[in-house]
Amino acid sequence: MTHPPPSVSEQPDRLIDGEAQGIADPALRPLKLAEFIGQGQGRANLETFIDAASQRQEAMDHTLLHGPPGLGKTTMAQIIANELGVGFRATSGPVIARAGDLAALLTNLAPRDVLFIDEIHRLNPAVEEILYPAMEDFQLDLIIGEGPSARSVRIDLPRFTLVGATTRSGLLTTPLRDRFGIQMRMQFYSADELVLILNRQAEKLDMPLSADGALEIAQRSRGTPRVAGRLLRRVRDIALVAGASEVSATIADDALGRLEVDAQGLDSMDRRYLSCLATSYGGGPVGVETLAAVLSEQRDMLEEVIEPYLLQTGLLIRTPRGRCLSPAGWSYLGLDAPAEATRQLDLLASASRTDLD
Ligand SMILES: Nc1ncnc2c1ncn2[C@@H]1O[C@H](COP(=O)(O)OP(=O)(O)OP(=O)(O)O)[C@@H](O)[C@H]1O
Ligand SMILES: [Mg+2]
Repeated sequence: MTHPPPSVSEQPDRLIDGEAQGIADPALRPLKLAEFIGQGQGRANLETFIDAASQRQEAMDHTLLHGPPGLGKTTMAQIIANELGVGFRATSGPVIARAGDLAALLTNLAPRDVLFIDEIHRLNPAVEEILYPAMEDFQLDLIIGEGPSARSVRIDLPRFTLVGATTRSGLLTTPLRDRFGIQMRMQFYSADELVLILNRQAEKLDMPLSADGALEIAQRSRGTPRVAGRLLRRVRDIALVAGASEVSATIADDALGRLEVDAQGLDSMDRRYLSCLATSYGGGPVGVETLAAVLSEQRDMLEEVIEPYLLQTGLLIRTPRGRCLSPAGWSYLGLDAPAEATRQLDLLASASRTDLD
């Protein structure tokens, strides 16, 4: 039997990693759409679709949530079920090993229930195959028995809503992606939105947090609520031991400095990545496989956890020929970009302009 490779969430802890570590504190998860902060238009659209499905008393269309770890995909899936007032069943792609496992899940659903499949890009192809008719026609085609006595049976399923979550929508097969009528891309959060999330969490933790303290943590949370929550808890520990009655900006700054999270929210792993790109590869372009080998990290971990935020902040550029350090990346490291690196970037930029012509 072959085992799937470990997912990024099975990797060792990293303080500002957006990945889930164990069970998130359920008390801190918003349960209603009104409590879910941010995600602007995407959230507003979902609200409309939930409302429409509720009014029609029908199952909502299948929904795909995609985006970097820790931005609230699982939270949103639970909120959808909650707001629809239906049951919620959760599983994850690598856990559904055989077609029969999926069949068992599907046949146990009540009408309009939400089935949540996390890491849906890691579904076994044989399982994915039977998911297609289940999603499209609410029918299950199963082969029972083996050899000459094998026969196929068709089972009608209740109309349900599949909510899929993935950090890698690019790895989804087209037939699967096309079967999701609603697709929402989760965006990184602004510092203002993270301040609201932090204030709510601090309130639930009964923890005094000043306005400037919240802003300090928000600005250093990589636009990610899970990171914000984790930093808040660590800062709270440090404040407690230091005997501070409130988390002020000074306390937060001191604590985050001790945790090696810098002013932009980057940690030692990000710095290692950027330095490697600068010093070993003259700023690139270099392939992600090579970087993964040199940094002794999994490629998936780089692509899912480290790179999205470096790309978002503009320190890193992804080109068809590989990763490149941007001029902002060089200045972040306090280095002057060598002439060759600048020439490479110009070349790649003009090549991509020609591609567009
Ligand atoms: N919009 C939000 N408002 C308030 N809290 C949020 C929001 N989004 C996420 N959170 C909090 O951030 C944490 C992480 O969210 P969640 O587990 O839903 O992320 P995820 O996108 O499913 O991550 P992964 O890809 O790792 O599974 C949760 O504890 C949740 O309470
Ligand atoms: Mg999740």
